[in-house]
Amino acid sequence: MIGLDVASVEDAAAMSALTRHVIRVVNAKDYTPQEVDHACEKFSPEYFESKIACRIFYKATLADEIIGQASFGDGKIHTLFVHSQLHGQGIGAKLLAKLEIAAFDAKIFKILVASSVAAKGFYEKFGFSTLGIENGPFGVTFAMEKFLGVITAIERPRLPSSTSAKPRR
Ligand SMILES: CC(C)(COP(=O)(O)OP(=O)(O)OC[C@H]1O[C@@H](n2cnc3c(N)ncnc32)[C@H](O)[C@@H]1OP(=O)(O)O)[C@@H](O)C(=O)NCCC(=O)NCCS
Repeated sequence: MIGLDVASVEDAAAMSALTRHVIRVVNAKDYTPQEVDHACEKFSPEYFESKIACRIFYKATLADEIIGQASFGDGKIHTLFVHSQLHGQGIGAKLLAKLEIAAFDAKIFKILVASSVAAKGFYEKFGFSTLGIENGPFGVTFAMEKFLGVITAIERPRLPSSTSAKPRR
């Protein structure tokens, strides 16, 4: 059975290994070897150790092995990776839902992501729209956003009932 839990610093090495594996096996088809190497360098165990303190990380596990991870901070999805042999089983959707709930709880109503080429269709399926294409040191990414609009409506502040349009005398 797939487990979904908050990740801790002890998971950093396994999250790094998973992410590097997915980049080399899945994302590599859309990027140059240099861009792939650059991305793998970035997602080191030290990267995950340092970011875990300031972002929300979730891990998906199967038989105690980390087979997916996702992170959110400063209004952005920073990572969302599922093991290449387990795509299409709803794990990415569950991780994304965890991040959206975390955003909801933090009263963040717009979430951003710099999507990989491979994941663009996935984010579109879950209501993200494309703002533009960016070309940085990791290659092409799509700047995407999603509004958690229902939440905005619930959270909109109301005037207290005692407030009246007439000035007090
Ligand atoms: C993107 C990713 C996280 C999706 O994870 P996943 O577990 O395969 O996705 P799910 O099985 O939860 O998919 C949920 C739905 O999205 C659809 N979907 C998944 N990937 C899709 C894609 N690339 N394009 C269009 N639809 C996609 C699925 O078909 C499924 O639809 P359904 O509910 O109608 O069957 C995964 O493919 C991945 O790790 N990709 C490589 C790493 C990457 O690029 N990450 C994004 C970094 S920004």
